[in-house]
Amino acid sequence: MHLRKRALVTGGAGFIGSFLCEQLLAAGHDVLCVDNFYTGTKDNIAHLLDNPHFELLRHDITFPLYVEVDEIYNLACPASPVHYHFDPVQTTKTSVHGAINMLGLCKRVKATILQASTSEVYGDPAVHPQPESYWGNVNPIGPRSCYDEGKRCAETLFFSYRQQHKLRIKVARIFNTYGPRMHINDGRVVSNFIVQALKNEPISLYGDGGQTRSFCYVDDMVQGLVSLMNTTDEFTGPVNLGNPTECTIGQLADKVIALSGSKSKLVHKPLPSDDPRQRRPDVALACRALGWEPATSLEQGLAKTIAYFEQVLRRGSRHGTTG
Ligand SMILES: NC(=O)c1ccc[n+]([C@@H]2O[C@H](COP(=O)([O-])OP(=O)(O)OC[C@H]3O[C@@H](n4cnc5c(N)ncnc54)[C@H](O)[C@@H]3O)[C@@H](O)[C@H]2O)c1
Repeated sequence: MHLRKRALVTGGAGFIGSFLCEQLLAAGHDVLCVDNFYTGTKDNIAHLLDNPHFELLRHDITFPLYVEVDEIYNLACPASPVHYHFDPVQTTKTSVHGAINMLGLCKRVKATILQASTSEVYGDPAVHPQPESYWGNVNPIGPRSCYDEGKRCAETLFFSYRQQHKLRIKVARIFNTYGPRMHINDGRVVSNFIVQALKNEPISLYGDGGQTRSFCYVDDMVQGLVSLMNTTDEFTGPVNLGNPTECTIGQLADKVIALSGSKSKLVHKPLPSDDPRQRRPDVALACRALGWEPATSLEQGLAKTIAYFEQVLRRGSRHGTTG
């Protein structure tokens, strides 16, 4: 009988995973962080290494893992297009073989398992905002399919294991999340804008900047994942987690410039043909079933993220690494 819950976080050295490890430790759990450092770094969890309730294991989840745990948060997977395109076969393997290995582990130790799925399972959606009942519109052989189809197959595996082996599963469909410890070079709009602003470089706006996005601060996302894990066995999801407040890309750029005190100017560039006009989660189910909604305003979240990137750039310029 274990008084402390033993939680396994795959991808625990990544952006969201490292905050999740912190949160679980703060809640009094033992945390095993498993990561192959494909996109994650030891810097993200360096401050946890002295905690006797935290353990770090370098391991690739495409290979089986035998450990004793009560809860599994399966976050391992490169999340940004720059990283998942780099090795598309490994990306799909991580989603599919990784899910099989983690579900196998879950079955053996009778744990509860949560999958970090994605809004990308909706593909190029024909429905806005997307409720969980929408099946999506995904190209199986397009540039994003290694990620989108990998995550879709992982969801299928989760529900098949539930049906066949009665596993306790939870599936979160995560929408755009931002915050400190995002990768500096992953090509995402929030980190791009912040880095350009801090360097006083021109900020590239595609089209008229009127396309909208919704951004969820990482603390809110972690809170949502933990609340989902704590639901009753009957609740499986899939459930959308994200911030439903829309903001135009132009407004985002203005806020980043103002909050960072930057001298950057906006430069307009042609809108790529596959750039969606709108992306926003429908979080009605999360509100109802988890009693969850994001609490951090975009200004608060951006201020913390800007402070983090300031530090990274300062460190980088001392070491001559960030150009
Ligand atoms: N950040 C977002 O906006 C977002 C949106 C939707 C879904 N997600 C999902 O959330 C999860 C975490 O995303 P993130 O933004 O923190 O990304 P991240 O790249 O920072 O974290 C992923 C972590 O997984 C590790 N990893 C990758 N392949 C692995 C493997 N085979 N074995 C072990 N570890 C492996 C990486 O080293 C990294 O530490 C991912 O599953 C991602 O698909 C994130």
